[in-house]
Amino acid sequence: MTPTAWFAPLLRPELAALAAYVPAPIPPGAIRLDANESPWALSDDARASLAEALARVPLHRYPDVRATALREAIAADERVHPDAVVLGCGSDEVIGLLANTLAAPRPGAAHAAVFFPTPTFVMYRQTALSLGLRPHSVPLDAAFDLDLDATLAALREHRPNLVFLASPNNPTGTLFSADRLAAVLWAAPDALVVLDEAYAAFSGVRYAALAAQHPNAGRLQTLSKVGLAALRVGWAILPPALAAAVEKVRQPYNLNALSQAAAVHCLTALRPEIDAAVRRIVAERERLAPLLAAVPGLDVTPSAANFFWIAVPDDAARVAAAMRERGVVVRSFHAHGGSLTRRMRVTVGTPEENDRMLEALRASL
Ligand SMILES: Cc1ncc(COP(=O)(O)O)c(C=O)c1O
Repeated sequence: MTPTAWFAPLLRPELAALAAYVPAPIPPGAIRLDANESPWALSDDARASLAEALARVPLHRYPDVRATALREAIAADERVHPDAVVLGCGSDEVIGLLANTLAAPRPGAAHAAVFFPTPTFVMYRQTALSLGLRPHSVPLDAAFDLDLDATLAALREHRPNLVFLASPNNPTGTLFSADRLAAVLWAAPDALVVLDEAYAAFSGVRYAALAAQHPNAGRLQTLSKVGLAALRVGWAILPPALAAAVEKVRQPYNLNALSQAAAVHCLTALRPEIDAAVRRIVAERERLAPLLAAVPGLDVTPSAANFFWIAVPDDAARVAAAMRERGVVVRSFHAHGGSLTRRMRVTVGTPEENDRMLEALRASL
C-alpha cells in the first residue's frame, strides 16, 4: 500500500500494527513439524467411508444454517444443550465471533479489552486488534503456568470483556494449574473466560466440570489438532443465552456442507480411528521427551500437548534454518524477541519423522 492510497485514511489505525499471516514456504518433501497438525492421514478404509458420506451431500443446496447434525453430535459428546454450541470455520473464526459479540467498551472506557497471558496463541491478540478491541497481557511464570498475582492485578486494571486461557497452552505445551484457572474465573465474574481446549485431547484434561460451576466460563474446541486440520471446524460451548447473542454475529453459512458432513462422520463412525491416532501421538510424545531432554544444550519444557517447547543455546532462527536445510521444518519464536529469541516449537510427528527431527536438531546446534 502506498501512503497516498485513497483508502489509507479509512483504515482502522490498529491495522498498522498487524501483519497478514503468511507462512514460510515449505521445501518439497520436507517433514512438517511447525503447525501442530497430526502426522497421521486417515486410513484408506476411513477415506472410502468418508467419500461415501460426502457423496450424499446435496451440493446444489445451501448448507444447514444450524449445522444441526454436527451440533447434536457435539452436544451429545459434551452433555450440553445443542443451543450452547457455536460453530465456526475453525476455532479461529469462533475467537473472532466472541470478540465481535463482546465488543462494547465498559462505561468510561474508549475500547473493550481482551486479556491473555503470554506467550500464547497469537490469534487472541491479532483478532482483538483487528476488531478494534485492546489486547492486554502478562507473562506466564517461570514454569509457564499462570502468574496469578500479575493476572489478577491486570484483570482489576483493564476490566477485560474477554479472557483467553489455552490449557494446554500453545506454544508452551503446559497445563495451567486448576486452582489458578478457578481463581481467574472467580476474579472476572463479568467477563467471558474462554478455556481453550484445542490441545485437550493430548492432556486428557477437560474443563467441563469447572465451566459448569461458572456462568462466565466458555470452552473452545477444534478438530484441527486431532487429524482434521483441513476441515476447518471448531466451536465454542457457551452459556446458551450468550451463544444466542453470538449467533447474531455469525454468518449463516460459515460452515460449508462438506465440512459439516465430514465432521459428523469423523465424530461418529471414524471416532475410534481418530482416538487411536491421538493415542499414538501421546505415546510418541512420551518416547520423544527423554530423547530431546538428553540432547546437550537444550531446555525442553514437559509437554501436555502434541508439541515441544524448546530453548536452544543460541538464536532459534539460526537453528530452525539449519534444520530446514536438513529437510525438517519447525517453528522458531525468535521474532518475538526477548526471552523467546532462543525458543522454538516442534510438533510431534510419526516415529520416523521424529527420529529425523532429532538427527537434524543435533546436527544444527
Ligand atoms: C490454542 C489454540 N486455539 C485455537 C487454535 C485455532 O485452531 P483452528 O482455527 O484450526 O480450530 C489454535 C491453532 O493453532 C491454537 O493453538
